Amino acid sequence: MTDGGSSISAVRQLLATLVAAKPRGRIAELGTAFGEGAYAMATALPEDASFITVENDPERFQVAAQRLAGTRAEMVLGDWRELMPERGPFDLIFLDAGDAAANAELAISMLAEGGILVKDDLTPGPPDEVDPVREALLRDPRLAACEIQTTATTAAIIAVRRN
Ligand SMILES: C[S@@+](CC[C@H](N)C(=O)[O-])C[C@H]1O[C@@H](n2cnc3c(N)ncnc32)[C@H](O)[C@@H]1O
Repeated sequence: MTDGGSSISAVRQLLATLVAAKPRGRIAELGTAFGEGAYAMATALPEDASFITVENDPERFQVAAQRLAGTRAEMVLGDWRELMPERGPFDLIFLDAGDAAANAELAISMLAEGGILVKDDLTPGPPDEVDPVREALLRDPRLAACEIQTTATTAAIIAVRRN
């Protein structure tokens, strides 16, 4: 299924900052789209860290491949739910493909201890009991998590796996 466009600049800056904080890190992006977020992450990658990004739309994958040429990004074409769990655990995951609430359990299972999960594309506001994404990521006892505002009209969740 194809959904969503490129991440916004503020989120790309956030991702690049977190990537830079992960020497020796194994970093994954779930949902490459056109490679804009991936480019920000790949170009901030510490020398001894690795970065893999996965997209299931072949046309988007080709656009991203051109953008990421010459970076150290490893690109995978297909469904991350099938292809990525065996490549983990990861120290940083940008969860940006499909239904985040439905996929939260699988994404959390792919996090290393101390690993960080980022979910963007939220609308700012107090956590809502009926919001499935916030329920899944802000209230999971395995995670220390918070919501941050990325612009006046957008927000993201940053979650760290405790154990
Ligand atoms: C919001 S966009 C990604 C934006 C990108 N991360 C960025 O920062 O520019 C979501 C992408 O995930 C892809 N996608 C959706 N479900 C997927 C799945 N199960 N496996 C791999 N890619 C998927 C869509 O085709 C879409 O291109």
